[in-house]
Amino acid sequence: MEKAPRPTLFDFHGVSMTKYFTENWENTQNVEARPDDILVATYPKAGTTWVSYILDLLHFGRICPERQESIPIHARVPFLEYGIKSQITGKDLVDQLPTSPRLIKTHLPVQFIPKSFWEQNCRIVYVARNAKDCAVSYFHFGRMNSIQPEPGDWNTFLRDFMEGKVVFGSWFDHVTGWWEKKQTHPQVLYLFYEDLIEDTRREIDRLCSFLDLSLSVEEKQHVVNRVKFDNMKHNKMTNYSTVPLMDQKVSPFMRKGKVGDWRNHFTVAQDEEFNEYYKQKMKNSTLQFRTV
Ligand code: A3P
Repeated sequence: MEKAPRPTLFDFHGVSMTKYFTENWENTQNVEARPDDILVATYPKAGTTWVSYILDLLHFGRICPERQESIPIHARVPFLEYGIKSQITGKDLVDQLPTSPRLIKTHLPVQFIPKSFWEQNCRIVYVARNAKDCAVSYFHFGRMNSIQPEPGDWNTFLRDFMEGKVVFGSWFDHVTGWWEKKQTHPQVLYLFYEDLIEDTRREIDRLCSFLDLSLSVEEKQHVVNRVKFDNMKHNKMTNYSTVPLMDQKVSPFMRKGKVGDWRNHFTVAQDEEFNEYYKQKMKNSTLQFRTV
């Protein structure tokens, strides 16, 4: 796989995007969803891979365990809007998935979700992560991943993040847009990264009841163990080490997996400004995170 040149951001129907996620737009929008498809929707760096792996184990851990040892997570749970020329698109990978249900990943803001997912009443698992940790994780991801625009230094990136000048746009619009949708669409389950960290087993129970899955106590415990940060970090099928676009020497994909790492990055001044900005941006939403 060739290294892709760093892309530039542009405004795409009001959301900052790059060509790698818009060039296959029409095909992506015309995807034919199936009623049992399960969509994992997130703002980047919210724990997408973690929840994708949990869902894969819950559905296929018993009936097809070899899948976890031989197919990387990004092929098991394709990235719908991914569209780099010379590589197979996310949409084509979705079409080729042999499994039922199909597990599909997206970072699209809610207004861009292809209509077929709503028409088919597909279940959607949305995962949100607090803004500051998301920003830090996204910064390091930009440094190591050549399909992201150059992030610049931390201060520059933080400003861009606050203004939504990052790929997939504003964190504020993303998390609140999906939150609004969830109020009227019970097929959307809204999870928080911080809850998964606090009690992975409890969140797995929530997922099982949302997805009508019945697993034994032992089976659930097995999933809890497999998806622990250290186990995923050392697992080639979940740590993205097979993806040459990512330079894991710059920053590993499975970086820290913690709540509160933002404290190691934000200066006092950045924190104060961010808190003020956050208050303004979130004032019309009922969505509440544990911390700003
Ligand atoms: P950090 O950069 O803060 O470490 P995504 O999959 O949406 O790109 O999110 C990646 C973030 O989720 C990274 O955050 C990564 O370490 C974290 N993550 C992935 N698996 C995890 C796990 N099992 N437990 C905790 N965090 C995890």
